[in-house]
Amino acid sequence: MADYVAYFNGDFVPFSQVKIDPMDRGFLVGDCVFDVARTFNGKSFRMREHVDRLYRSLKYVRIDPGLTRTSWSGSARRSSRATSTCGRTSGTISSGSSSPGAAAAGRTRPARPRSAICTRQMGFVRYANLYDTGAHGVVVRTRSFNPDALDPKVKNFSRMNFNLAELEASDVDPEGWPILLDSRGNLTEGVGYNLFLVADGVIKTAGDRSVLQGVSRGTVFDLAKELGIPISEEDLQPYDLYTADEAFFTSTSPCVLPVTRVDRRPIGDGKPGPTVQRLLQAWSETVGVDIVAQAKYYAREGDARVEQGVLTVEAGLRSSVRLAADPDARPLAPSTSGSRACSSDTTDPASPSRPLDRASALWSPSSPSSSWTSSGRSWSSRAWRRSA
Ligand SMILES: Cc1ncc(COP(=O)(O)O)c(C=O)c1O
Repeated sequence: MADYVAYFNGDFVPFSQVKIDPMDRGFLVGDCVFDVARTFNGKSFRMREHVDRLYRSLKYVRIDPGLTRTSWSGSARRSSRATSTCGRTSGTISSGSSSPGAAAAGRTRPARPRSAICTRQMGFVRYANLYDTGAHGVVVRTRSFNPDALDPKVKNFSRMNFNLAELEASDVDPEGWPILLDSRGNLTEGVGYNLFLVADGVIKTAGDRSVLQGVSRGTVFDLAKELGIPISEEDLQPYDLYTADEAFFTSTSPCVLPVTRVDRRPIGDGKPGPTVQRLLQAWSETVGVDIVAQAKYYAREGDARVEQGVLTVEAGLRSSVRLAADPDARPLAPSTSGSRACSSDTTDPASPSRPLDRASALWSPSSPSSSWTSSGRSWSSRAWRRSA
């Protein structure tokens, strides 16, 4: 992997210089929160919501990051430029390193929290073909967070139950996607995604007492409203899932992913349904990228091509480190991508502009093609970008 630039404890450094202290409390006792955003056409999607959620998590677990939201957003955006067209930017903050002998003592927090922001590849290979076939959900025995123990709204790295859920799902199907129940047997979510079902024309999902307030989940609520599809939060059981007309996951990378089987039983007719397709099309229009075609393109071309993009923009990113340190840096022209009302990034005061558009210009994937035509729309020669 390219040695690209990451933000680490206040500086932009080569990724290889990001080193975690073995006494870090995130490493020792999971005293650590995080968030992950993605880009479309080199532009962060709903960064404000991700940063707001991160700061809610920080407040709840009582870690003071020592950074304003605006600085955090700015650093995250700068990191996201490591891939010119698509990438996952993760920000992680731990409470810091314990002094020897005080490893597990949470009452006296270390003086300095530790933070890292880095942008990685999207991992399209895992899910690109699932837009056609649908994912296989597996309802696992391991339960989700009990809100009496740890509120699932906190996006944190104490995730051993999720690890066990992954293992249980793969016992059933190596490609299985775990679905966790709460302590009363209600459906909650997966290990990095929210769960929805569609029954009698209504989209249904668990309330946020038992799940993470997913940014993609919120986007689905907004899109459903725009599309006039009723949507509700309610207690749901595996019965409701097995008998649903459609089911899908939502998460930052794939956005909306159809689920066509659960516990080896077909959902609906066992094919991705019309609601999923409408949501994906509306989301694609929001961000100006054909989400499905883009995932298939990169999955087919492989990591090397994305890595090439990372390498290509690295020189530009290094110069942006100077930009990051310069409060008087001149903003460049605003981005014009994204047109629907529910794309919130254009309103983020932390970054009204999109510096380094030149990075995108350097990055020109060849042989574009799109096999995803359900939208019936025309897309530009770069298959997953919407025509102007
Ligand atoms: C437990 C859990 N649920 C749901 C999600 C989906 O959230 P988002 O849509 O913000 O990616 C995530 C994301 O990592 C998660 O960890």
